Amino acid sequence: MNILLLGSGGREHAMAASIAKSTQCDKLFIAPGNAGTAECGTNVELKADDFEGIGKFVVDNDIRMVVVGPEAPLVGGIADFFANNDRLKNIALIGPSANGAQLEGSKDFAKMFMQRMGIPTAEYKTFTKETLKEGQKFLSTLKPPYVLKADGLAAGKGVLIIDKLKDAKQALKEMLADAKFGDASSRVVIEQYLTGIELSVFVLTDGKHYKILPTAKDYKRIGEGDTGLNTGGMGSISPVFFADKAFMHKVEHDIVQPTVKGLHKEGIDYKGFIFLGLMAVKGDDGSLNPYVIEYNVRMGDPETESVFPRIKSDVVELFQATWNGTLNNVQLDIDERSAACVMLTAEGYPESYRKGDTISGLDAVGESLVFHAGTKRTQAGNLVTNGGRVLCVTTLSDSIPEALLKSLQAAENIKWKGRYYRHDIGQDLLKMYIERN
Ligand code: AMP
Ligand code: GLY
Repeated sequence: MNILLLGSGGREHAMAASIAKSTQCDKLFIAPGNAGTAECGTNVELKADDFEGIGKFVVDNDIRMVVVGPEAPLVGGIADFFANNDRLKNIALIGPSANGAQLEGSKDFAKMFMQRMGIPTAEYKTFTKETLKEGQKFLSTLKPPYVLKADGLAAGKGVLIIDKLKDAKQALKEMLADAKFGDASSRVVIEQYLTGIELSVFVLTDGKHYKILPTAKDYKRIGEGDTGLNTGGMGSISPVFFADKAFMHKVEHDIVQPTVKGLHKEGIDYKGFIFLGLMAVKGDDGSLNPYVIEYNVRMGDPETESVFPRIKSDVVELFQATWNGTLNNVQLDIDERSAACVMLTAEGYPESYRKGDTISGLDAVGESLVFHAGTKRTQAGNLVTNGGRVLCVTTLSDSIPEALLKSLQAAENIKWKGRYYRHDIGQDLLKMYIERN
């Protein structure tokens, strides 16, 4: 069948590479894609919010499956647009309805959902401009640090963690009264700060059944030791060693099952990925307990770049079963090896950065995989930088340290003016592992 994948990042290149390998895939189109996805299929100039244009392309090119990479078209209702159109309603669209996408699109919706389903998450209250004073009073009852979250999508910048009460009250005012994040902060969730270690768990669901994909951890800050400004993600590893059988049992029983059942019970159409951003918090008995920090309704980036290469099953068969409601009938085979992904970024990122630098060294990466994010080909056919996160290197190996070492060696060989990467991806977990064993 012909397949259309929406998106343009490293996540989409990793997905495109898996989709292109499927025996079920005839032609793969990626909209808009990047220079890497162009090697897995055909890039198409279509904007993610142009549902009419996407629909027309699907019909004209006999597309039978659409896989949605980023959240914006899902929150914008692309699944509903397809479902309500006679020519599109039978196309397998992998991604939830707008209603389901609110799990990511509205923090308040997600918190209320978790509360109704009894899913472990931080205590919270939601405030608006009208209740700003109550919000500031509520802050006074909490212990620092204070966690303030803009309700809506804010390009990953809507969460503030603030040490001083005075600053937290001021930030709340800026969000609610001065619309610091525009409409996204017309409501603000204030929640209890959780201390622990974060990880990402990915679920594929057909609305009734589910498969739990490999765990991963991403590294969000620009500087080594997880310092400095927040980024889209500087690397990832999979699996996460402390997410052992006992921990994953809690994740499945306390979070995944009530989430999928809850969506079903509330009549929310959901055929797609659920990304659980979890905090593992040490309980009184010393064991780790998972709490949901956030839901996303898509795969993570750069987690996908270490999770997807570990999926041995045919992903198109998994997606087809997701659409058909038969995920219970397919098997998920996972590569036992570990994956480590190191992101290479442009000079200056995540602040203003340059584009158009020539990239070299992609032929010197050994067995490592290279997934493109912000890259493009010039008319002359040269590969140049075209974004802040430029590309990432993933290696599968018998252990995380070995995978990391190989990814770092490959990263070192890839060059452009000012290219940067972190050398310490995964080191926190390795230290924790050594301390424990
Ligand atoms: P979010 O966009 O909700 O994932 O939040 C961004 C980041 O803020 C998370 O990845 C966590 O590192 C941190 N964070 C969010 N909520 C909390 C919380 N309740 N306690 C501690 N850290 C948090
Ligand atoms: N890596 C975190 C995210 O994709 O939101």
